[in-house]
Amino acid sequence: MHGPNLNMLGRREPQYYGADTLASIDARLIEQSRAAGLSCTTFQSNSEAALIERIHAAFTDGTGFVIINPAAYTHTSVALRDALAAVKLPFIEVHLSNVHAREPFRHHSYFSDLAVGVICGLGAAGYGYALQHAIDYLNRQMS
Ligand code: DQA
Repeated sequence: MHGPNLNMLGRREPQYYGADTLASIDARLIEQSRAAGLSCTTFQSNSEAALIERIHAAFTDGTGFVIINPAAYTHTSVALRDALAAVKLPFIEVHLSNVHAREPFRHHSYFSDLAVGVICGLGAAGYGYALQHAIDYLNRQMS
């Protein structure tokens, strides 16, 4: 799941977020999941409400794990945090940039204490590392 402004990846502040487009990141994650025999669906929205609705849908659609970059909502959204708490799905919080090396308002996350783990500062590769963890977790659950 990708939060606000991440549809602009590739064109948006590449010094922080790199040159990859969201479509290319999503395509790699879908392929990584397929190679592991699992399915991965992706979702981006600039709307807090749409992100919350998608998390609610994950409660009943067979989703086993969530990887989320809440983007700016990381630092503001109690509502999105509450949605993840409500569905009780394990999730990893990912940030492309190292939020701790940036402005102080980016240092606080409403998600990190609920997350299985947090990856930040590793660019688009961070999503792949998070997905590998999710794959290992889901494989353990199924064995
Ligand atoms: C971000 C960091 C956030 O502070 C920012 O608002 C974003 C992207 C990241 O991936 O580094 O939109 O989540």
